[in-house]
Amino acid sequence: MLRRLLLQAPTSCRRLSNANRYSAPSHSPRFFSSSSSSQSPNSSFIEHLEDNANHSTSPPSATVSVDRSGLYNPTEHSHEPSSDSELVKHLKGIIKFRGGPISIAEYMEEVLTNPKAGFYINRDVFGAEGDFITSPEVSQMFGEMVGVWAMCLWEQMGQPSKVNLVELGPGRGTLMVDLLRGASKFKNFTESLQIHMVECSPTLQKLQHSNLKCKDEDNTDDKVNKRSVSTLTGTPVTWHAALEQVPSGLPTIIIAHEFYDALPVHQFQKASRGWCEKMVDVAEDSSFRFVLSPQPTPATLFLMKRCKWAATEEIAKLDHIEVCPKAMELTQTIADRISSDGGGALIIDYGLNGVVSDSLQAIRKHKFVDILDNPGSADLSAYVDFASIQHSAEEASGDVSVHGPMTQSQFLGSLGINFRVDSLLQNCTDDQAESLRTGYWRLVGEGEAPFWEGPDEEAPIGMGTRYLAMAIVNKRQGVPVPFQ
Ligand SMILES: C[S@@+](CC[C@H](N)C(=O)[O-])C[C@H]1O[C@@H](n2cnc3c(N)ncnc32)[C@H](O)[C@@H]1O
Repeated sequence: MLRRLLLQAPTSCRRLSNANRYSAPSHSPRFFSSSSSSQSPNSSFIEHLEDNANHSTSPPSATVSVDRSGLYNPTEHSHEPSSDSELVKHLKGIIKFRGGPISIAEYMEEVLTNPKAGFYINRDVFGAEGDFITSPEVSQMFGEMVGVWAMCLWEQMGQPSKVNLVELGPGRGTLMVDLLRGASKFKNFTESLQIHMVECSPTLQKLQHSNLKCKDEDNTDDKVNKRSVSTLTGTPVTWHAALEQVPSGLPTIIIAHEFYDALPVHQFQKASRGWCEKMVDVAEDSSFRFVLSPQPTPATLFLMKRCKWAATEEIAKLDHIEVCPKAMELTQTIADRISSDGGGALIIDYGLNGVVSDSLQAIRKHKFVDILDNPGSADLSAYVDFASIQHSAEEASGDVSVHGPMTQSQFLGSLGINFRVDSLLQNCTDDQAESLRTGYWRLVGEGEAPFWEGPDEEAPIGMGTRYLAMAIVNKRQGVPVPFQ
C-alpha cells in the first residue's frame, strides 16, 4: 500500500496514483499503463480523420484567415441539443459561425482555459481524487530541489537584495510551498524574494493563496496587482494572468514546471498534397471529428519555421508534426525578460529534444480518453519540443544561453536528492519511510515501479527519464548548476 507522506510539511501530504501527464512517443506503444494502452488517444485518430475538401458544409475558403470568434456569443444563438455542455455548445458555435473547422490549437486552448468552462478554471484537477498527478504532488523533495536550484542561481546572480521569483502555472502551489519551506533557513535569499504566480484559473489562485498561507495586505491602493504576504516566510506574493504582466526591472528567476505541455499545439499530417493541418469539425451526427485542411493555414508559417530548425532527415521520417507557436512566443518573452533584467528560467516538463510527432493526449480520472470526448472534462497535454525552446530563446536574444535538456533524474541527482532522502529517512515513521522511498523512486526512476505489488494497471511509472530539465540564463550568470 502506498500511504500519505507527512514530513515536515503538514500541508504537503503526497498521495501517489499512477497517472503522470505523459506517455510514450506515438511511434512506440503507449507507456501509460498496460490496460490503458488500448485507450491510446490516437488509436481512433486516423479512422476519424477526413479530408475537409469533401466536406460540403465547410467551404474551403472559410477555413482560415480571419478570427471572428470575438463577435460571437454562443449561448444566446445556440440551437444545439441541451445535453451538450456549455463548452461543447461554445465550440460548436465557433465552428458553425466560422463556416468551417477550427485548429486543434484553438480547440485545446478553449478546452483548457476557456474563462467560463475550461478544464483548469473551476476545479482542483490534481492528485488521487483529481485527474492526474505531478512531481510536486508526488514528493516534497521536488520543490525543495527546485529551491536549491533557485538559490544557486541567486548566488551566481551576486545575491541581489530584490528578486522576482516567477512561477508559471503553479497548480496547487505545492512546489512554491516546498521551495519556501526548504529555503526558509537561508534568510538572505527568502528576504530578497517577490513571488509572482502566473495562473489563469481563479480556483487554483485561491488554492495557491491558501496553501502558501497568504494574508492580504489591506493598505494597497493598487486593486489590479493586489499584494499578499506568505506567512511561511513573510514573502510578498502577487498573482497575474500572464508573464507579460509581471513587473519588470528586477533580476528574475522563472520556474515553469508542467506549464509548456498545456500550451496549445497545431498538428500537421503528411498527405498526398503535402503537409495539411489537422482541424476539429462537427460531424453530421453532431459529434466532433478531425478533418484535414484543404489548403495552407496561418500556422503553416510556424511549421516551416520549425522545420528549418531540424535536419531534413528528421522531418523526412515523420508523417505527423506538432508545433506550438505559444511555446515559441513564451520562450521569446522569457529570453527578453532575462536579457533585460538578468537571472534565468528553469523549464521542467515531459517531452523530446527534437521535433514532436503526434503526442497530444487527454486524461480524465487517471485514464486516457479520446481527445474529442466531452471537452473540458479531461486534461489535454502534449510533449514539449525542447529543441524548439532552445532555438526560440537563442533567436530572441544574444544575451542568453540555453543549457540542457538533461533528464529529471540527472537534474535532481546532481542537486543532491539522494542526500535529502537519506536525511529525511533518519527521522520518520515506517509509513513515512515507505512513502519517501516510493516518492523518490517515482521522481528519478524509469519504467514501471519494481516494488509494486498491486494491479498492473495501477503501477506507478517513473518520471526520471521522461521528464527533462532545461535552463535559460543571462550569459552574465555563467553556466547554471547543475548544467556545468
Ligand atoms: C499541468 S498543470 C501544472 C501545475 C503545477 N506546475 C504542478 O506541477 O503541479 C498546469 C498549470 O498551468 C495553468 N495554466 C495552464 N494554461 C495556462 C495559461 N495559458 N496561462 C496561465 N496559466 C495556465 C493551470 O491552471 C495549472 O495551474
